[in-house]
Amino acid sequence: MKDVQGRVAVVTGGASGIGRGMAESFAAAGMKLVLADVEEEALQKTAEAIRAGSGESAGVEVLAVPTDVSQAEQVEALARRTLDAFGAVHVLCNNAGVAVGGVPTWESTLDDWNWILGVNLMGVVHGIRSFVPILIEQGEEGHVVNTASIAGLMVNGGNALYGVTKHAVVALSESMHIQLQTSGPKVKVSVLCPGFIRTRILESERNRPAELAETKPIPDTPLADSARKMGRQFVEQGLDPREVGDLVLRAIREERFYVLTHTGPIWKGTIQQRMENILAERDPEPPLQEHLAELLEDRG
Ligand SMILES: NC(=O)c1ccc[n+]([C@@H]2O[C@H](COP(=O)([O-])OP(=O)(O)OC[C@H]3O[C@@H](n4cnc5c(N)ncnc54)[C@H](O)[C@@H]3O)[C@@H](O)[C@H]2O)c1
Repeated sequence: MKDVQGRVAVVTGGASGIGRGMAESFAAAGMKLVLADVEEEALQKTAEAIRAGSGESAGVEVLAVPTDVSQAEQVEALARRTLDAFGAVHVLCNNAGVAVGGVPTWESTLDDWNWILGVNLMGVVHGIRSFVPILIEQGEEGHVVNTASIAGLMVNGGNALYGVTKHAVVALSESMHIQLQTSGPKVKVSVLCPGFIRTRILESERNRPAELAETKPIPDTPLADSARKMGRQFVEQGLDPREVGDLVLRAIREERFYVLTHTGPIWKGTIQQRMENILAERDPEPPLQEHLAELLEDRG
């Protein structure tokens, strides 16, 4: 989709972080926006800030729709609100996501599983089911961006549940790419696989629903503590979400499928290591271990 001016973009998880970064980039390019998020106050504030805009995006039309993407009927309602407001939709970013704990898979609670699968995987599924038939039916150019993670391309020792959801989003996006070539050739797909980005992802618990509250705290060991500190440091020193927004906009214009934010040799090396182990039928290895210190510098 070379010309995005005046097109309608829906962004889930649009109130903060990467979703907000995408919204700002789209607004600056003259797109109309529908922002969906479960955090209502942050959603309204972001919508107002983008409407008020500075220079490039001032006066842009922004509709804010409180939405829990884990609930199919709420995403269905989001699609209806979008069409009622703008009469069409051209870009869908299935971006809302959460991260949970770091305890071993067998100790994670069913609430942990249900919450993270509900948001990170079913949220994307709901977006696809509610919007892709509309995109195809319209007969115009359309684009779906699914936010996975670099964790969806590599072996995850530390945060298994998160990795499971992100591998699933990569697989789903790859299948869609193939299927749309015959069933909806004007609709393109990208899968966004960020490395570390400066957002509130490590504060995901703020959005955990009360009915899925059971979880196990990560044990208070020196090892767990240093892993937590390192994770926080990586995110704090991560890329600015607006840079990711600009990257996504470019990928939509160029119709590029895989969108990586960190492309240096160490990051890509973690993907390569997994692929080579699979092809050589070797056991999985934890990635990055000997390169942790260099990781922050390796942005490609
Ligand atoms: N920050 C990183 O380093 C990083 C790296 C790789 C992938 N990601 C992915 O990027 C996406 C955006 O996360 P972020 O880093 O911007 O974090 P963030 O916490 O700043 O933003 C996530 C947004 O999703 C919203 N959200 C959470 N649950 C929701 C639900 N059920 N329905 C609707 N909205 C919901 C939150 O309110 C928040 O506004 C996620 O899918 C995340 O997994 C982030």
